[in-house]
Amino acid sequence: MANLMTFLLSLPLFYFFLLTTFLPPATCFNNQTDQLSLLAIKSSLQDPQGALSSWNQTLPFCSWRGIQCRGNRVVALTLSFQGLVGNLSPHIGNLSRLTNITLDNNFFHGPIPPQITLLTKLRFLEFSNNSFTGELPKNLSQCHNLVQLALARNLISGTIPNELSFLPKLEAIIFSRNRFFGLIPPSIGNITTLQRLSLGACRLGGEIPESLGRLHRLEFLQLGGNGFTGLERNHFSGPIPNSISNASLIEWILLRSNSFTGPIPNLERLTLIQDFNLQSNLIENDMSFISSLTNSTKLESFEVGENMLSGSLPESLANLSVVVSIFDIHKNKIHGNIPLGIGNLVNLDVVDMSHNLLNGPIPVSMSKLSKLHTLFMGRNRLGGELPSLFGNMTRLSRFQLDGNEFSGNVSSSLGNCTNLLELDLSENNFSGLIPPEIMRLSSISIVLNLSHNAFEGSIPSEVGSLINLAALDLSSNRLIGKIPTSLSSCVSLERLYLEENFLQGEIRTGMSSLMGLLELDLSRNNLSGSIPSFLGSLKLQKLNLSFNKLQGEVPTRGVFAKKSSIFLDGNQGLCGGIEEMMFPPCKGVESSKEKLSILWKILIPILIIGGLCIVILIFFKCKESNGNPCPFVDTIGAQLFMRFSYADLVKATNGFSESNVLGFGRFGSVYKAIIDDDNDTIVAVKVLNLDVKGASKSFMAECRALGGIRHRNLVKLVSVCDSVDFKGNDFKALVYEFKANGSLDKWLHNNEEESGGDFKSLSIIQRLNIALDIAQGIEYLHFGSGSSIIHGDLKPNNILLDHDMVACVGDFGLAKIASNILPSSCESSVSSFGIKGTIGYVPPEYGTFGSISMLGDVYSFGVILLEMFTNKRPTNDLFGGEVNIHRYVNSALPHGIMEIIDPELNTRALKMEFIVRILKIGVSCSKENPRDRMPINLVVSELAGILAQCMN
Ligand SMILES: *[C@@H]1O[C@H](CO)[C@@H](O)[C@H](O)[C@H]1NC(C)=O
Ligand SMILES: *[C@@H]1O[C@H](CO)[C@@H](O)[C@H](O)[C@H]1NC(C)=O
Ligand SMILES: *[C@@H]1O[C@H](CO)[C@@H](O)[C@H](O)[C@H]1NC(C)=O
Ligand SMILES: *[C@@H]1O[C@H](CO)[C@@H](O)[C@H](O)[C@H]1NC(C)=O
Ligand SMILES: *[C@@H]1O[C@H](CO)[C@@H](O)[C@H](O)[C@H]1NC(C)=O
Repeated sequence: MANLMTFLLSLPLFYFFLLTTFLPPATCFNNQTDQLSLLAIKSSLQDPQGALSSWNQTLPFCSWRGIQCRGNRVVALTLSFQGLVGNLSPHIGNLSRLTNITLDNNFFHGPIPPQITLLTKLRFLEFSNNSFTGELPKNLSQCHNLVQLALARNLISGTIPNELSFLPKLEAIIFSRNRFFGLIPPSIGNITTLQRLSLGACRLGGEIPESLGRLHRLEFLQLGGNGFTGLERNHFSGPIPNSISNASLIEWILLRSNSFTGPIPNLERLTLIQDFNLQSNLIENDMSFISSLTNSTKLESFEVGENMLSGSLPESLANLSVVVSIFDIHKNKIHGNIPLGIGNLVNLDVVDMSHNLLNGPIPVSMSKLSKLHTLFMGRNRLGGELPSLFGNMTRLSRFQLDGNEFSGNVSSSLGNCTNLLELDLSENNFSGLIPPEIMRLSSISIVLNLSHNAFEGSIPSEVGSLINLAALDLSSNRLIGKIPTSLSSCVSLERLYLEENFLQGEIRTGMSSLMGLLELDLSRNNLSGSIPSFLGSLKLQKLNLSFNKLQGEVPTRGVFAKKSSIFLDGNQGLCGGIEEMMFPPCKGVESSKEKLSILWKILIPILIIGGLCIVILIFFKCKESNGNPCPFVDTIGAQLFMRFSYADLVKATNGFSESNVLGFGRFGSVYKAIIDDDNDTIVAVKVLNLDVKGASKSFMAECRALGGIRHRNLVKLVSVCDSVDFKGNDFKALVYEFKANGSLDKWLHNNEEESGGDFKSLSIIQRLNIALDIAQGIEYLHFGSGSSIIHGDLKPNNILLDHDMVACVGDFGLAKIASNILPSSCESSVSSFGIKGTIGYVPPEYGTFGSISMLGDVYSFGVILLEMFTNKRPTNDLFGGEVNIHRYVNSALPHGIMEIIDPELNTRALKMEFIVRILKIGVSCSKENPRDRMPINLVVSELAGILAQCMN
């Protein structure tokens, strides 16, 4: 029968109608059914724009808006951007001749009705940009004619079904920005018809299946924004398909590291594109195509590095989206000037133009790019003077200008870039003195390279500020004078290159403190005196002292023991050394022995004193930390993240940049940090402001409280950093799991500015779930972890929500461990160090008795619960004197609650009885007398009960 059907369906329309006419009535869908179905669909929708006003009996339904018929049956339903709100009626399944459903950019919510799988003729389904929830309907493979399945930007969850591989005609799977989880089924690789696969910004993980490599027709693949491990190693080749020009809904083009060849298709219609990445291909095109992106107002990242692009940058660069933050054209053949208008792109943070043929000056307008942190312009033909445009670029951390034609003095305004990690001005024609302002930038830690210029004068003594620097290259300049003794402060140096200058004097013994030095090149200077023997006790792997005026004995130890590692040619009067060096033996051997004994006389006391210092230091450290400061930091966490150094955290937070700040707390600021591992793991880093009294204590408190416990509703501490910063000051930070949805406070008090208007009000069920989460977290703290932990500072700011809106209790800076307390007594208290906590949430007895207790946490919880359902902070102007939030709610119970509850709550959705019960819990927890408060385990079971009943 199925075969017969297929056969008949392929016949001309005429036979097709005959068939439908003679089918038994039960399965007979006709135009009457279609009309009724459409009306049913309309009736389940709100239509504020009147888009469906033509859907009435006065017109035949085939003339209704958005309907296309063939033979009086609906074949296409097209209602994009119509402002429609509501569920998609299951009656859609009765429109049995539908081939196209296009409902994108509306406000559909609820699940995709499973009846959609009855639409066996369906070819194009476009539901993008709605709020559909739930999982994909089962048996989707029944829609065996499906060509395109587009569901981008919805809230669809569940896993991606294997079944999709049974759709023999599928060309496009557009699922990006949903809530899918799990793996990409390898069976997707069996859909050989597939041309577009977009799974970006879902929550998928695991390996990207190799089978995707079998998708030979694939033109567009987008997997970014997930948690995939493994690498994309695809081998796409040939030109970029022209069809991209029409894909006006594309948000990302990520074709990095393939073998696409040019030219670049017209991009004018891609107005929604956010990321454009063609990096590492073989594309030949000139740069005029930038003009075609000027209507793409959402463009954030433009990356076309490592191709064969040519031509010059068009002036229309200035009209690119103002939100562009990454502009990367490195390793191409682009020539001409940098357009002035680049200064319009004020949100740029990464600019990489290196390895091109660009010429002319750096436009002064670039001074407006105050967010830049990476500026790579090396290996071009840029020239002129280096303008003093760095005054505002305070975030700049990596700056490369090497291999250009710049001349004149280096602007001292670079000294404003106090976040610089790397500065490379090598191979230009810079002259004049080295600005001491640069040498004072103690943040520079990767490399400071001023080599192959014409710098004059002596090395500024400020060089001693570069205490974090790993590589310093001042070679091939015209530097005179002595090697400054302050260099001995640069204790992080691994590579030091001062060759080809006019340096004089002796090789300072001050360098002996550079214990990490691996390579040292002082060749082709005028250095005199002897070779200091301490060089033999460093870890040096390469030492070049050739073409100086060194004399005397060549040491034999360390680097001097290996002929291939040392270069001593062109010095007159050296002697000794290992035999292979073939220097003449030294004469006054006795005198050198004498020197040795003097050395020992100095060394032994130093060693003894040093040893003592270390013992004392260790002693104090131990005392301070009272044993192990953070004994339990997760071993898994330790594996994942290891211990962070200060430098790691500087890097991960963009130099603790303001744009990474997640919030400010009593003892410091919290930053979002992206760890440079395979997954770009996001964490939250709390940096303690050690100037604030008690901050150090709070670090310990939090370590102890959180280090040993794991609970779904407690923020997980993944690592700590107890170190010194680049200036040698103490530095303490705590590293937590990142919670994507921020604090409860933000959600309750819906700060439009902070959130960019992106917040939806929390539903009753969400609030109830969050309340239960918090209560469970507290219960675990109090009774679940062996020792009883008292949080001491519960408030909505300290409750964090993850991407699934699961609430976690965080910020344990005031926590206390009350060990050896009988859990049943509930009254356990610990003497506190004066009133802490936050006004409004601190229980009254903390002021009176000066002790903190579990029932104090319960009080704070009660206040939070009341706040969650009234949307009033306990510090609201309404309260004061005798009226607090507890009394305010209590006096409204039970009949006046409509007056006091959050007007955003959709109370129709829920019986008032539930709200009353919830508020009663809040009132009970926040009673003045601690003994009258409801115990937290009771709170948990009550809330769980209410939630269960609500869900029924
Ligand atoms: C249904 O189809 C029949 C014939 O195919 C036609 O006469 C009738 O007008 C149609 N009804 C509607 C509501 O379009
Ligand atoms: C039905 O739709 C037509 C076309 O939009 C419109 O002119 C007419 O007023 C509508 N009738 C009713 C009763 O809504
Ligand atoms: C269905 O959609 C496709 C793709 O958008 C289009 O090419 C086709 O013309 C549409 N068919 C109808 C009947 O609207
Ligand atoms: C792909 O199809 C082949 C042949 O039908 C089948 O053997 C294989 O199991 C399929 N692979 C997956 C991952 O489903
Ligand atoms: C941008 O949009 C305007 C107005 O729609 C149009 O006139 C112009 O041609 C477009 N430019 C490009 C490059 O697409």
